[in-house]
Amino acid sequence: MHGFSYKQGSLHCEDVELKQLAATYGTPLYVYSGGTITDHFRRLDVALSGVPHKIAYAVKANSNLSVLRLLAAEGAGFDIVSGGELFRVLKAGGDPAHCTFAGVGKTRAEIIYALEQGIYSFNVESEEELRYLNQVAGELGVVAPAAVRVNPNVDAKTHKYISTGKSENKFGVDFEAIGGLYERASKDLPHIHLRGLQMHIGSQLTSIAPFIEAVEKVTPLVRLLKQRHGIEFWSIGGGIGIVYQNSLESGAAEWWQQRDASDAPLTIECYGKELVPRLQELGLKILLEPGRYIVGNAGVLLTRCLYEKKGLAKTFKIVDAGMNDLIRPALYEGHHDIVPLIQPASDAQVVVDVVGPICESGDFFCQDRALPDFQPGESVALMSAGAYGFAMASNYNSRPLPAEVLVEGGSATLVRRRQDFDALIEGEL
Ligand code: LLP
Repeated sequence: MHGFSYKQGSLHCEDVELKQLAATYGTPLYVYSGGTITDHFRRLDVALSGVPHKIAYAVKANSNLSVLRLLAAEGAGFDIVSGGELFRVLKAGGDPAHCTFAGVGKTRAEIIYALEQGIYSFNVESEEELRYLNQVAGELGVVAPAAVRVNPNVDAKTHKYISTGKSENKFGVDFEAIGGLYERASKDLPHIHLRGLQMHIGSQLTSIAPFIEAVEKVTPLVRLLKQRHGIEFWSIGGGIGIVYQNSLESGAAEWWQQRDASDAPLTIECYGKELVPRLQELGLKILLEPGRYIVGNAGVLLTRCLYEKKGLAKTFKIVDAGMNDLIRPALYEGHHDIVPLIQPASDAQVVVDVVGPICESGDFFCQDRALPDFQPGESVALMSAGAYGFAMASNYNSRPLPAEVLVEGGSATLVRRRQDFDALIEGEL
């Protein structure tokens, strides 16, 4: 379920008309469905109910305080990658004791902040980092809880920029080196408590096979670490992919099914069904770090058409959102469905590029796509923009960051004001 549908010909988020929100708050505007976020969290929780587990939401996907608050109220833990994300989680009422801290380049200040707040685990990405963590914890007279990230050298079969589990990626420690590292650390590093093991092979995985391959490959190592070092948890990371195509049609599920007939479709039920039995016998707490699955289909970016420009080779629909607001098409060739807020009267389509106002050729939301012939003045929704949308937005071209609205049932709340020009230059001396 994703909470966006046409009602009486007008696109709604839950019970709120998006055209109304665009008129009230202006465009570009991010709109999130609170019901979708909690529904996804709960579905994943149920799918994993066969093992002791904790869902640590990957804050990087969407770090708006109101989104974090919703998830904190559901009992989520949080996977953070910076001091700033920890600050946000604390502001939103999240419990630091359920926070894991990932990333290859934690600074001294970030380590101290996280130690002071009492996070659950540092997910460490190299021996050098583990030794540094030991040193800083020693200076503070504390013991740092840690897990090392194993790089299982498994192909996630996703876009090369979001694949992380191969040896050539910068992430984690080689599978073969983990055993020796835990041995050395348990002898040499008195300020480290080796609490678990972590892995994450990539993002937007659209089949279950790489997850199974990674879990099966790493299981013997996990058993060994439990026996030798008494680890209590295994984080199997995030990465669960979502459907970006046909997001408004009931055909989306069928499309998913057809895309690779040789493989089981990656539904959340399938994820649980395949992984839980493989994890159950380990007798460990299983951590998950989903970002996109929780929020991706729960958000849209509304944008208004400014001009239509007909060139010799192409027709361009120029809209008021740009790659600074949603960078996924430019950076990962990401697909986002583009849907008019008012349902078109006919099925007629035109082949167009939808582009933003930024001075870059990469500033497009689609190229040569058949779309309803929406006109200047009309607004459209860029679907499935809840994950890595606003979170990756920037001020490029000195464009103020868009506003964000959270919908719950029939109520819509502005959860982030549109940036104004003064805010743009705040901090500049
Ligand atoms: N855990 C770790 C250690 C990660 O690096 C990530 C994402 C996650 C969990 C959450 O992954 P998810 O469940 O959301 O797939 N900006 C890109 C995605 C980058 C993902 C970075 N790491 C995009 O828009 O596709």
